[in-house]
Amino acid sequence: MALPMASSPAHHHDGLLPRMLAPDAHANAAPLLALRDFTVAFRGESGPVPVVRGIDLTLASGEALGIVGESGCGKSVTWLAALRLLGRGAVTSGEVLLSGQDITRLSERELAGIRGGRIGLIFQDPTSSLNPVQRIGTQLGEVLRLHRGLRGKAARTEALRLLDRVGIADAARRLGQYPHEFSGGMNQRVMIALALAGEPDVLVADEPTTALDATIQAQILDLIRDIRRETGMGLVLISHDIGVVADLCDRVAVMYAGRVVETAATQDLLTRPRHPYTRGLLAALPTLDGPRVRLTPIPGTVPSPDAMPPGCAFAPRCPIAIETCGGEIPPLVLAAQDQRAACLRLGETATQPGMPLSTLAASAFAEAGA
Ligand SMILES: Nc1ncnc2c1ncn2[C@@H]1O[C@H](COP(=O)(O)OP(=O)(O)OP(=O)(O)O)[C@@H](O)[C@H]1O
Ligand code: SF4
Ligand SMILES: [Mg+2]
Repeated sequence: MALPMASSPAHHHDGLLPRMLAPDAHANAAPLLALRDFTVAFRGESGPVPVVRGIDLTLASGEALGIVGESGCGKSVTWLAALRLLGRGAVTSGEVLLSGQDITRLSERELAGIRGGRIGLIFQDPTSSLNPVQRIGTQLGEVLRLHRGLRGKAARTEALRLLDRVGIADAARRLGQYPHEFSGGMNQRVMIALALAGEPDVLVADEPTTALDATIQAQILDLIRDIRRETGMGLVLISHDIGVVADLCDRVAVMYAGRVVETAATQDLLTRPRHPYTRGLLAALPTLDGPRVRLTPIPGTVPSPDAMPPGCAFAPRCPIAIETCGGEIPPLVLAAQDQRAACLRLGETATQPGMPLSTLAASAFAEAGA
């Protein structure tokens, strides 16, 4: 089989060089990855049901962007649909720009060259990317052949290096084994090795550590951090755990009910969150620095896509909602320098900026009778 166009090994050399140039050299360059008014709907019995409702996100070269939000907010669907991994039941619109090129317009074959090539993917569940009936070495070899044109001894040497890099001891023996012979944490490392095999410009990691116990989770996150430092690879880290994201990411986008409701540099988001939903997530965070506070989960649940409230989708749960909130969908607007939020009452959330966020969010929700 001929190599898919987009997986030509040449791009990796092109891809490595720009990262080493001064940022100014790319002041006018397209961002590495960008979603523009991206939507996803699933075909339902009575017409399409919108699930992702107009997302704009930008990832600069080498940047780490975290995507957080409760279960069902559309975090996974956004990225799976962007890479056309959801099948025919999902209908998308908008643009997914990779270095300025809209990949939604590519043929399936061209896109297959990008997945696992310029864009690496890892998921919560290794069984979704690892083939249970193929040896690890075969699976790594396939990626190395497809995306980097490596075969034979060169491929084996690189496969050994990759397993070693992700912390798998006795790599030569391990290459001959099947996924079921590895523990959960080890399979996660294998999945990272597979993603790295394509020398990605960006790694999209969807809950990569959620299924693992705390110690292994910390090890895997450290591994991702180290690899990013070595390679300059960009990262999109999807997690329901804002603590995990804050640890690893330069910027965070908070999703609620299929939209981005707040985005900011991580430090700003943690110290002066502006959207009531972000404040609620932070108040429910179990690992805040400083004195332990009572955890305050956000009352209520994420609305189902087929029963979306009119106007601001967070209104039924929002402690500061007013009548107008039900009337219009708040646009994502500039709330502070380099910080955007989609709330009609940003004037309200700008007060008390110096207050410790745990106290602030907890008291806001206590007022709401939580
Ligand atoms: N194949 C599908 N068909 C119809 N609806 C779907 C499909 N996949 C996901 N959904 C719905 O889309 C919405 C967003 O789901 P998604 O999996 O993106 O959430 P998430 O934010 O990743 O949550 P989690 O933290 O649980 O992974 C949910 O309401 C979900 O039920
Ligand atoms: S728009 Fe209204 S309901 Fe929505 S988050 Fe802001 S204050 Fe709350
Ligand atoms: Mg998900």
